[in-house]
Parts: sequence; C-alpha cells; structure tokens
Amino acid sequence: MRILITYATTEGQTRKICRFAADRLADRAHTVELLRAADAEGLDVGRFEAAILAGSVHLGKVQPELLDFANENGAALSRIRTLYLQVSAAAAGKDPAEWADLRKIADATERAFGWHPTRTEHVAGAFRFSEYDFFKSMAMRWIASQHGEKLDPHVDKEFTDWTALATVLDEWSAAG
Ligand SMILES: Cc1cc2nc3c(=O)[nH]c(=O)nc-3n(C[C@H](O)[C@H](O)[C@H](O)COP(=O)(O)O)c2cc1C
Repeated sequence: MRILITYATTEGQTRKICRFAADRLADRAHTVELLRAADAEGLDVGRFEAAILAGSVHLGKVQPELLDFANENGAALSRIRTLYLQVSAAAAGKDPAEWADLRKIADATERAFGWHPTRTEHVAGAFRFSEYDFFKSMAMRWIASQHGEKLDPHVDKEFTDWTALATVLDEWSAAG
C-alpha cells in the first residue's frame, strides 16, 4: 500500500514513533511518505491508500497543526484506511481517571478532524528533559512525583512500548 504518515510533535517523541512506523511498514513492502503536518501544505492526500496521523498531548490538547491538516483533508482521509496515534504520558500508566481523560481528548480530537479514524491507539511517549526549559522540567517532575515517581532531570525517560506499537502497525496494515 502507499501509506502517508503525518505527525505533530513538541519535544520529538512522536517523530521518533512515526519514524519507527515508517521503517516497520517499509520493511513490509509498503511505500511510505513521512512528513510533519505543518509541512503538508499542497500534499495530494488522494494519492494514498492509507494514512497514519499522530500527535502528542500537552495540557489536555493535541497540536492544532495536526487538527488543521486532518480537517482540511477530511474528504480524502475519510475515504481511506486510517490510524490515529495519540501520544501521551498518561498512556504509560493504568490510572482509570487518566485513561478516561485520554479517551475524552481522543474524542475531542476526532470531532475536530470531522471524520472517524478506522483505528485509534494510545501510545506512551517520553519525558524529554533535554528538550524542556526550566519551568517545563519543574512541572514534569511535579507531575511524576504525584504518581510516586522521582525523576532525574538530567536523564530522559522513554515509556513507548515498541513491541506493542509494532503489533498495532502490523494488524492495522494487514486488515481489510
Ligand atoms: C508541558 C507538557 C504538558 C503535558 N501535558 C500532558 C497531558 O496533559 N497529558 C498527558 O498524558 N501527557 C502530557 N504530557 C506528556 C507528553 O504527552 C509526552 O511527553 C509526549 O511524549 C510528548 O510527545 P512529543 O515529544 O512528540 O511532543 C505533557 C508534556 C509536557 C512537556
């Protein structure tokens, strides 16, 4: 299949996730185009048979450039097989209240898309202290401490489960 992967990222983990997805799908003989949603102006989405859209959650919201891309290309995207990857810190845990929030964020995101992805998956991201300013670093350490975790602000911490992600990609690309 000819597959488009488009994403928005703030600290870079969603880009890493999408590069992983691109490599995985290319290894399975798919043709993959990977680009940032902000750079997708003029892209002919009608050329693709499937698409992955990915964005990360910051303060309960996904990047507006992903929503704009999805909405502006809704006619073409709603006709093909799609996978929405929502990257967050909360997806690394099992807290029912946080999972309820993640689902609400995904619902709001899909409403903003204006169409329903074929499949939506929550992917655990990372704490990237190397990308944070002082205030973000303090905020993230405080959030972690609320979950009983003590984080070293000099060390990035990745939560992404690459094996689970590979399974999702294999299932999604083989379905239908
Ligand atoms: C300022 C800030 C706010 C965040 N807000 C949330 C949040 O509301 N819910 C959540 O689950 N994760 C939150 N996160 C965690 C990010 O979703 C996580 O770090 C993710 O890996 C970021 O992906 P990116 O590097 O592609 O931007 C936040 C992270 C930062 C730095």
